[in-house]
Amino acid sequence: MERTLILIKPDGVRRNLIGEIIRRYEMKGLKIVSIKSMHPSRELVEEHYAEHRGKPFFNDLIEYLTSGMVVACIVEGSNAIKCVRLINGATKYYDALPGTIRGDFACDETQNLVHASDCEEAAKREIGLWFPEG
Ligand code: TYD
Ligand code: MG
Repeated sequence: MERTLILIKPDGVRRNLIGEIIRRYEMKGLKIVSIKSMHPSRELVEEHYAEHRGKPFFNDLIEYLTSGMVVACIVEGSNAIKCVRLINGATKYYDALPGTIRGDFACDETQNLVHASDCEEAAKREIGLWFPEG
């Protein structure tokens, strides 16, 4: 069993896609073991995306993530990290295949609906950041 962190970003919440997105993980047999909604601080989001600090899209990314409510979930299952990233689809909406969340719903390079941890180390770090209460 593996755990990963997913975020439904502010456009996903604004577009009423919370249920649609979570349904896709559950359909695959993954379990939502923790879930909460929050308006994240700039500090939290900058730490979350620390690997992208200094890149040309960083400021827009931080503005976007702090622009509204975000749903954070811990998702658990066999090979959850890889499965969730496949369900989310490629980063760029124009590379994301139909049938994936981004392929079906995203149409903007920054506003791409979802985040998922990309490796075990990132999952551990991100779960600690978004669920510090344990
Ligand atoms: P990244 O970690 O590369 O993608 P992913 O979310 O698939 O793990 O990038 C983080 C977010 O930054 C990405 O979801 C959207 C945004 N972003 C841009 O706005 N422009 C870009 O060129 C890239 C690479 C990312
Ligand atoms: Mg990433």
